[in-house]
Amino acid sequence: MRITLSNLHKMMREGEKITMLTCYDASFASLLDAAGVDTLLIGDSLGNVLQGHESTLPVTLRDIVYHTACVARGAKNAFIIGDMPFGTFQVSPQDAFRNAAEIMAAGAQMVKIEGGRSMLETIAFLTERGIPVCGHLGLTPQSVHQLGGYKVQGKAEDDAQRLLDDAGILEQAGAGMIVLEAIPAALASQVTAASRVPTIGIGAGVDCHGQVLVLHDMLDVYPGKKAKFVKNYMKAAAGSIQDAVALYVAEVRSGKFPGREHSF
Ligand code: KIV
Repeated sequence: MRITLSNLHKMMREGEKITMLTCYDASFASLLDAAGVDTLLIGDSLGNVLQGHESTLPVTLRDIVYHTACVARGAKNAFIIGDMPFGTFQVSPQDAFRNAAEIMAAGAQMVKIEGGRSMLETIAFLTERGIPVCGHLGLTPQSVHQLGGYKVQGKAEDDAQRLLDDAGILEQAGAGMIVLEAIPAALASQVTAASRVPTIGIGAGVDCHGQVLVLHDMLDVYPGKKAKFVKNYMKAAAGSIQDAVALYVAEVRSGKFPGREHSF
């Protein structure tokens, strides 16, 4: 049976860790589903790992709609989240709704939007009209040029406080989940303790309600530079894709991943 957002909130309340991986096609969707991955994210990271771009900025709405439809056909159980690409949600809430509706029609159960308090109105507009929204704070790759590179965020005290406040603002606006990327583990722990919606970490320490990695990173097929928070599960599972995914699921559930060596 298809996992719902309510199921994920129940897992959070009961202290059960949520597993998430990025996914872009039907075959991997079926494999990850069979391995018990709770949530599949059609991330705009496909710009890097499928299309060979240096950033996520060139990814289009058509790309996400196409890959979301592929994943939705392949996965029977996993909760499906479609990423909103750069330029498809920043201009107006109305514009964001029209674009998010296409991703939902392709099979997503939720859309993900990068950004903090500036996204308040858009998140409220979407969630009040039936589109669940996942926020994304910390290192937001669509803002790479504004941030000056792919750097850990929230290290200075005022930046940390701003991120903590942003998480509360997103939740108030109606966000049903929040991805925390590349922030100190202690800050993610504070955000998680204050949050009534699941926090999903990537480079945010072990205390988040769940974890996500980019599939091509954890399977070690992406030839580009790997972030500190990536674990090579292909190596850990002696070369079997199924075993690598099963090990990831087991380690997230038990709290073994991420270790200190994958955290900031
Ligand atoms: O695009 C993506 O894959 C993401 C994850 C890294 C969270 O946003």
